[in-house]
Amino acid sequence: MNFHILTLFPDMVMDGLNTSIIGRAIANKLLTIEAVNIRDFAVNKHNRVDDYTYGGGAGMLMQAEPVYLAYKSIEEKCKKMPRVIYLSPQGKTFSQEMAEEFAKEEELIFLCGHYEGIDERVLEDIVTDYVSIGDYVLTGGELPSMVMIDAISRLIPGVLHNNVSAEFETFQDNLLEYPQYTRPEEWRGKKVPEILLSGHHANIEKWRREQSIIRTAKARPDLLEKAELTEKEKKILANHSEI
Ligand code: ADE
Repeated sequence: MNFHILTLFPDMVMDGLNTSIIGRAIANKLLTIEAVNIRDFAVNKHNRVDDYTYGGGAGMLMQAEPVYLAYKSIEEKCKKMPRVIYLSPQGKTFSQEMAEEFAKEEELIFLCGHYEGIDERVLEDIVTDYVSIGDYVLTGGELPSMVMIDAISRLIPGVLHNNVSAEFETFQDNLLEYPQYTRPEEWRGKKVPEILLSGHHANIEKWRREQSIIRTAKARPDLLEKAELTEKEKKILANHSEI
């Protein structure tokens, strides 16, 4: 999978993504990440890529042509028309489901806006998906594109050493993850739940599932409505009066 990021701050995205698990995936050639500096496509001798908005109003807007040329420089190299994601609070809210859908693509282009945004005409011409990472306003699209690339990359086979963990975790079946513990068995007077030391796998699985349901009910009741619970599990939930 090849990610291309159109940005005014290539170092910001490359420094962030070249680290840890995604950095290792790049080194292992499971994916590539390329940041294209929109400023390299400026069409004036001062290398300016922004200008005032027609009709007045505060702030500057990124101009259409440098964005278009930067996009074209990538599109020319792709076998088929790649999806172009524009990061914006006005987009559809990013979700695990969307990450799974994007993970099926071979090439993805992320367009990061700055200042007050980008001239509408180029967005109309090149953007296929408008995506927000949540209901708050950031200074640019770089952090949202990094968030999305992280979430998508970990779904690519081989990126996580343990492929099972990408599937069986938070949001699997709309449930949050159960609590987990590692050594020591007792830490500052707090013991690991007895059942996890029992070696009884079926009971452990049952306990974990119950914990997931209880946690989800407490922290994210909205998710629980979409989870598939057995009649027995619904009863367990009903018995937890503190939830
Ligand atoms: N750009 C600025 N804020 C954003 C957000 N919340 N999501 C995506 N892109 C953004």
